[in-house]
Amino acid sequence: MTDIFEIMKSRRSVRTFRGDNVPDSDIRKIIEYAVMAPSGSNQQPWKFMVIRDRALKNSMAGCVNGKISAVKGNIKSAKAEEHFKGYLQYLTFFQDAPVVICVLTRPHRSVFENILHKYMPEEEKEKQFFVDASIQSVSAAVQNLLLAAHAMGYGTCWMTGPIIAQREIEQVLGVEEPWHLTSIIPLGKPREIRPGYFSRKPVDEVLIFKK
Ligand SMILES: Cc1cc2nc3c(=O)[nH]c(=O)nc-3n(C[C@H](O)[C@H](O)[C@H](O)COP(=O)(O)O)c2cc1C
Repeated sequence: MTDIFEIMKSRRSVRTFRGDNVPDSDIRKIIEYAVMAPSGSNQQPWKFMVIRDRALKNSMAGCVNGKISAVKGNIKSAKAEEHFKGYLQYLTFFQDAPVVICVLTRPHRSVFENILHKYMPEEEKEKQFFVDASIQSVSAAVQNLLLAAHAMGYGTCWMTGPIIAQREIEQVLGVEEPWHLTSIIPLGKPREIRPGYFSRKPVDEVLIFKK
């Protein structure tokens, strides 16, 4: 599949995978497209750590389960508990994918932002909306990654739920400062392809032509 509009439209989050091998060459190609994304001041604040080892994937899921238990013990309301339980299925399925890509970023400020921050009056600083360029840049790369993988017949799911155990997973993976884990992307041949497109808000609801 090579039509970009069709690729963007037909990509869906995939949460169950076949066990088929994913060759290193395919992963390399997907990351080559991921890093074509734009980034603030072209800083390219991203790294992609590829995990295939079953024990390592289980340890990562174990970190998430540890956090889940800690949170569960503190929930007092039945409604909050019900909501919480509903989300649990979305947190650890990555461990059953043949490949897990851990996306890392590091904070960075452009030279321009540094000057702004240094010379902006204090009262203005407080009002300033914080534009996190690293997160925006790495997110652009993740979207490219998802689309490239989909174009090559692979399924993925952009996951930030497991980041509740960010520090613990970083320790398991040996991630070192200034790098931090921002998302986890399971990758593999989809076990099932759900037909149709996922619902989206109508364009008229989100598009503003400001005259
Ligand atoms: C920033 C971000 C975080 C997400 N985190 C999770 C997650 O932790 N677990 C999960 O199952 N899906 C996660 N998703 C996938 C969304 O649920 C999914 O994209 C959305 O429901 C639309 O479905 P679609 O991707 O099939 O179009 C995440 C998506 C984004 C963009």
